[in-house]
Amino acid sequence: MKYIVYGVRKDEEGYANAWSKEHNAEVKLVSELLDKNTVKQAKGYDAIVAYQQLPYDEEIFPAMKEFGIKDLSIRNVGVDNIPTDVAKANGVRVTNVPSYSPSAIAELAITGLMQLLRRTPEFNEKTAKGDFRWEPDIAKELHTMTVGVVGTGRIGQAGINIYKGFGAKVIGYDVYHNPALEATGMYVDTMDELLAQSDVITLHAPATKENYHMINKDSIAKMKDGVYIINTARGDLLDAEDLLAGYKSGKVAGAVLDVYENEVGIFNNDFTGKEVPDATLRDLLAQRDILVTPHVAFYTETAVKNMVDVALDSATEMVEKGESKNEVKF
Ligand code: COI
Repeated sequence: MKYIVYGVRKDEEGYANAWSKEHNAEVKLVSELLDKNTVKQAKGYDAIVAYQQLPYDEEIFPAMKEFGIKDLSIRNVGVDNIPTDVAKANGVRVTNVPSYSPSAIAELAITGLMQLLRRTPEFNEKTAKGDFRWEPDIAKELHTMTVGVVGTGRIGQAGINIYKGFGAKVIGYDVYHNPALEATGMYVDTMDELLAQSDVITLHAPATKENYHMINKDSIAKMKDGVYIINTARGDLLDAEDLLAGYKSGKVAGAVLDVYENEVGIFNNDFTGKEVPDATLRDLLAQRDILVTPHVAFYTETAVKNMVDVALDSATEMVEKGESKNEVKF
């Protein structure tokens, strides 16, 4: 079996090479992203494995058809950048990695929240300068709070376990109830109830038409004063301008953002010494209690290994058996 893997970072190479050795399969690693030009390199391979945030060019799929390649296995969860109708029309089936490490995402969300509640960035900054005074950075304790989890799939559930471990009251909202959580009685019936009751709101929902800007000026108005908002899911779940307005008015106490609507081309690039090319992002970065990280919730050794291994396993299943539990049904 021969696989070509696009968009390979240095930190993925060791895992891909180990998989290749273990499975006695040829795995060609290329650092370029998969696009209408680089797809040519896939000629002669059985399947393509890829990861990128940029949209996949439509031209990729007729080229795959021409080369007789029927499988595209992506190394992440989100399929929002794939023209699925074009893939389907060209007989290309797609697999994803639905659960590379729910804990990785949930742990980053709570890390940001704890930084805000315990004011560690301020203390780190002060002590680095030799200032060891306490005031004014008094903290809040998470176990006194209600955490509202929006989206109770695998990642939401990992978060729920962590928040419960801290002793917080946890409530959840999801259009689909997770059977494992149903009996705990943590579900509220409406998003409005979650907005009204939560001190912390954490988003773990996919990017869909229905979810677009679910956090906006109207939903923020329904929240408690001093609410904390966490988004480690998808940037377009949240209207960043409305969040900024809520924060500047004092309604929102802080936010943890690992994703941003216009992050593509900015996150995982270096703008040191240059102006960050997005005015709203610059404004977010300038706020003390809005913590921005560049879509790194997934970026752990455990998750990256799973992304590589599971994508290659799924590609094998698709090529050998024509089916995989990770095939995305469009
Ligand atoms: C996904 O898996 O869809 C993610 O958001 C993580 C990605 C940046 C690798």
